Formats: sequence, C-alpha cells, structure tokens
Amino acid sequence: MNEADSEEMLLHLFGFGYQQTTVLNEADLVLINTCTIRDHAEHRALSYLGRLEKWKGEKQDRKIIFAGCAAERLGKAVKKRFPQADIVCGAKSLEKFPTILENSSLFKPLNVKIVPEDENKKITAQVSIMRGCSCKCSYCIVPYVRGEAQSIPPEIILENCRIKSKKSPEIMLLGQTVNAYNYKGFTFTKLLEEVCKIPEVKRVRFLSPHPVFIKDDFYKVVQDNKKIARHLHLPLQSGSTKVLKDMKRLYTAEEYYNIVKNLKQLGFLISTDIIVGYPTETDEDFKQTLNLVKKCGFSFAYCFKFSPRAGTPAAELKEIAQEMVENRLNILLNEIRECSSLAYKSRIGQKEEVLFETKNSGRTSGNLWYRTAAAKEAGSLEEILIKESDGKILK
Ligand code: 5AD
Ligand code: SF4
Repeated sequence: MNEADSEEMLLHLFGFGYQQTTVLNEADLVLINTCTIRDHAEHRALSYLGRLEKWKGEKQDRKIIFAGCAAERLGKAVKKRFPQADIVCGAKSLEKFPTILENSSLFKPLNVKIVPEDENKKITAQVSIMRGCSCKCSYCIVPYVRGEAQSIPPEIILENCRIKSKKSPEIMLLGQTVNAYNYKGFTFTKLLEEVCKIPEVKRVRFLSPHPVFIKDDFYKVVQDNKKIARHLHLPLQSGSTKVLKDMKRLYTAEEYYNIVKNLKQLGFLISTDIIVGYPTETDEDFKQTLNLVKKCGFSFAYCFKFSPRAGTPAAELKEIAQEMVENRLNILLNEIRECSSLAYKSRIGQKEEVLFETKNSGRTSGNLWYRTAAAKEAGSLEEILIKESDGKILK
C-alpha cells in the first residue's frame, strides 16, 4: 500500500522536474513515506528524519517531505520537533498532494511529463482500488490515519490496469480490505473478472483480503479465471476464537479454517499475518494459534509482536510480560519456518506456472520462488516441472 502511495507521490514530483535516485548525496529532495502500524516503524521514520538535518544543512535548497501514516498521526508536532521537514503531508491528504506541493511555493511545475525509467522494467504493477478501512480491529491504527474505506471508481482502476499491463504482466490490486471493494454495487469479484479480461494481463494478485468478505462468489470467479494467482495472503491474527473476538476480527478460528480448506481445494497456497502477545492472549490461546498454523500449513507468515497504538481500544489494556511475548514469537517463527519449507517441498514433481521476473528467477502462481540456470525472458509465463527444492526455493 505504502509502496503504491510512494509511486503516486513520485509521479507528482516528476511533474516538478525531479528524477528518482536512491543515492542520498545526489538528491535535492528526500520523500519519506511513513508507516505507523507499529511503534517501531514510526520510530525508524522519525529517527531517519532526525538524521537528515545534517544532510539538509550541507547544501542550499535541499528539501524534505514527510508523508504517510506517521505524518497523519503526528501532524504539526513533526514540524515543531523537526523544523528541517519542509512539508508534512498525512496519509488522508494523499489526493491533495499535488495541490500541497503547488501551494507550498517551494516547487515550480514543469509542463512536461517525465515517466520514471524503471517503470519499464516492473513485472508487477500495483494498482490501488480502495483507500482507508472501515473495520475496527481493536489493535489497529489504520482506520484513524487513513479514514473510512472508499472504493475508487472501476473505470479509473481498469484504465490504470490497461496502461500498466502494457509494461507489467502482473497486476496487484491493493486495499486495506481489498475484497470489501464495492463501488455503487460494482463488487470486488466483478472487478476481478474485468481485470482478467484485459489481454495484456497475465496474472492478477490482490492484497490484503479480509476473511469476513470472502463469500461463495469469490470461489466461483477464481474457478472461472485462471489468471487469478493461486495464492492468498489472508491475515489470521490469532488462532483463538476468544482473542479474535477481543480483536474484533468478526470471524472464528473455525470459520477461518473453513476458508483455508476451500481455498486449498482450489489449489491455493495461503500466507498470513499473526500478532503474538495481544493483551488477552493466554498460553492456551497461543497454543490454539500454533495448532491452527499447523493445520493451515501456511506457505509464509509475517509474525508481529503486539504494539500498543495510542487511541486504539487495545492500547488501554494491560500488556503481557515482554519475555513471554518474545518466547511465543520464537516458537511461532520456528513453526512458520517448518510450514514454509514443507510448502516448497510439496511442489516437487508438480507442474507450476512460473512468471519470470529476471532471466533466471520467477514466482509460481502460488507465490513460491523458482530459480533456473537456463536463460528465460523476464515477463514470460511458463509451465515448469519442479525437480527439487531445499525448502527455500524451487528448482
Ligand atoms: N501491533 C502489532 N501488529 C499489528 N498489525 C496491525 N496493527 C498492529 C499492532 N498494533 C499487523 C496485523 C496486520 C499487519 C499489516 O500488521 O497483523 O495484518
Ligand atoms: Fe487494520 Fe486490517 Fe483491521 Fe483494517 S482490517 S482495522 S487495516 S487490521
């Protein structure tokens, strides 16, 4: 999501004559697009901004833009503490970004449209289909910094997909609860169907779906459209129905498992997000998470320690001992490593559709990495018989 937002902001900066560089000393402007989902992410962004004071002082006219979710949460406090930030633009103001640039009188717009060079090489193009989130998960700050869910009109999304698919065979549709997309009755599954009809699109992915919005029409669309990748990153958060209820996730562990079973029958691999150490999580709850992880056989998981975010209901609860959280996290990470290794090894002897991202490597429809010594064309899609795997890559 943040990457897609950065891309959007970059395009506007190109309009002001800037070009992209990753070399700090070559830059005239630094755009820091921030995340605040966990305290650690926000800390990193602020400490980077702090370090840029020296960089800014070294040359006249250097500029800093501090944007995104941490900018939204902290607002004016950022400018007060870090006067080196020329512009602070919160996540809710992304649409106003070009106006903010113009009004700042720090930049003069050019009349030429410069297309970033590396856009040409991207295999996966990200396309935002909604902004914000209307779920109220008890631990999550996203709805506060990004606002209520808003679906983007389908014509705009489809036009974006048509343009981007000329260079990028894979389209990744993005939204905080991507499958809750609904623009005046135009549903997510309808949108998936329409994206699949674009001839240049070879594969479609989407991130992040919420289990509660997966309904029968989704399974039907998947069955009818081979272009939809057989991989879903489906956040679980906890394997305990009690904790899920406390988190206001709106599904039970059993309901989640039923979705996984349905998806597996359709040939899907599933990855997930899990939070350990939620304030009401007991040892027994954690055991239930471990058991469900084993049953689901995730191909991958992002595991996070609970991070209290001021203003969310969960931040009011008493935290559990850090030592216990660390311990649970390590146990979970070990389990995930095993699951992931099994997912790779289970593909040996199977035919997989690989989309090549470089001459020698690519990803399967199930989102596993494949590598070969034979030279392929980046962007090509091939059926490949998997001969071996060390649990980390297919060959
Ligand atoms: N603490 C820890 N993890 C969190 N996430 C969201 N909010 C928090 C929090 N306060 C995780 C969830 C979500 C992912 C993007 O970040 O697992 O799916
Ligand atoms: Fe946060 Fe995702 Fe829940 Fe929305 S659905 S509140 S983004 S965890």
